[in-house]
Amino acid sequence: MSAVVLGVNGGIEAPTGEIDAMCLELVGHAIEAIHAKRVVLDTIELLFSGLSDKFVVRAELARLFQWLKTKRVTAIVTGEREGEHLTRHGLEEFVSDCVILLDQRVMEQSATRRLRILKYRGSAHGGNEMPFLIDDHGLSVLPITSLGLTHQASTAHLSTGVIGLDAMFGKKGYFRGNSVLVSGTAGTGKSSVASHFVEAACRRGERCLYFAFEESPGQITRNMRSIGIDLEPWTRRDLLRVHAQRPTALGLEAHLVAMHRLIDDWKPRVVVVDPVTNMTAVGSEIEVKAMLARLIDFMKLRQITALFTSLTQGGAAAEQTDLGVSSLMDVWMLLENPEANGERNRLIQIVKARGMAHSNQVREFVMSDHGITLVNISRRADGSVAIGSARNAEEPGRSDDPKPSRRRRVE
Ligand SMILES: Nc1ncnc2c1ncn2[C@@H]1O[C@H](COP(=O)(O)OP(=O)(O)OP(=O)(O)O)[C@@H](O)[C@H]1O
Ligand SMILES: [Mg+2]
Repeated sequence: MSAVVLGVNGGIEAPTGEIDAMCLELVGHAIEAIHAKRVVLDTIELLFSGLSDKFVVRAELARLFQWLKTKRVTAIVTGEREGEHLTRHGLEEFVSDCVILLDQRVMEQSATRRLRILKYRGSAHGGNEMPFLIDDHGLSVLPITSLGLTHQASTAHLSTGVIGLDAMFGKKGYFRGNSVLVSGTAGTGKSSVASHFVEAACRRGERCLYFAFEESPGQITRNMRSIGIDLEPWTRRDLLRVHAQRPTALGLEAHLVAMHRLIDDWKPRVVVVDPVTNMTAVGSEIEVKAMLARLIDFMKLRQITALFTSLTQGGAAAEQTDLGVSSLMDVWMLLENPEANGERNRLIQIVKARGMAHSNQVREFVMSDHGITLVNISRRADGSVAIGSARNAEEPGRSDDPKPSRRRRVE
């Protein structure tokens, strides 16, 4: 592939007020020299900066576009927007076959680039604004609308990685391709549930992409070591990648484009978004929900199992404070650590798991150096359930930390 770059300083000064024939000849030679199929004129303003009469400019513009057609090249001409007009001269849109409008807007202090096809002669095209991202991979565009409900539904199950939790999902765990929501108040163990799932997937040799919007990769690794999950070897083996970024680093759409890009590039089988609630820093709840719908559709089409954590507010309304995203999810688990009798104990329940007969119990779980372990239910004679130190007192000899031998060291 060859390219010729022609530089013209300060526009083309033509005494007659027309495009210098020399210039067209120069471009024509360059096209022929490399049998160019594409020509880029960047920018049109510069090309005509030497001309002051707007009628002459318009006539010359039409002539230039016509000339490019005779050369049978696909030409991309860039122009700056000015006021009401799409371009400074206000004619390019009429003489060109396709017009693409680029725009950058700041919302909630975050800038998002958007692209819209205004016209494309002889072809149907989308009319919506679409966010796009420019990064070290170039430019990528993301459709604003959801991809639709056309994905296949797998019957394969994936372990949750938490001892005792698979049994609550009919002994098997989540369906592959499911979207899983783990919600709970601060410090209830959401990231730990996510890390158990990641570790189980890595052990199966599946790639996991962890989007962290609150903690750095180093912090996640250190914290999970505290509960006996060593993520570092999986990172070393390139089975786990943690992509950490503050939500405010990009606009909502730009985050979505970046996530799509990373997923398409690396093709993980499991994706974690921790926590998704942080996204409200750069968008309204409705916008976050719309973004999630698109992300979920995108992953479902690729049969990626996705786990989202969500930070809920305490109090009775815990089940209503999930950004309204729970309806998008196939599985919803709620973690709690209510205070009673001078101690906080951890509870887990499956609010829903589409397509399976799941447990209806609210179970106690403990976190220890060996990870999350569900505790067997201790029911009193009157039917009430004992948890925490009450359970330990009523069942002496029973340990909260069963020290599972399951976890093998990974080099
Ligand atoms: N070795 C351990 N033994 C017992 N509990 C532990 C241990 N290590 C960490 N924890 C508990 O785990 C909690 C943090 O778990 P995790 O990070 O999964 O919660 P989270 O719900 O993701 O929190 P956040 O809302 O901050 O994101 C700590 O607050 C601590 O109570
Ligand atoms: Mg967390």
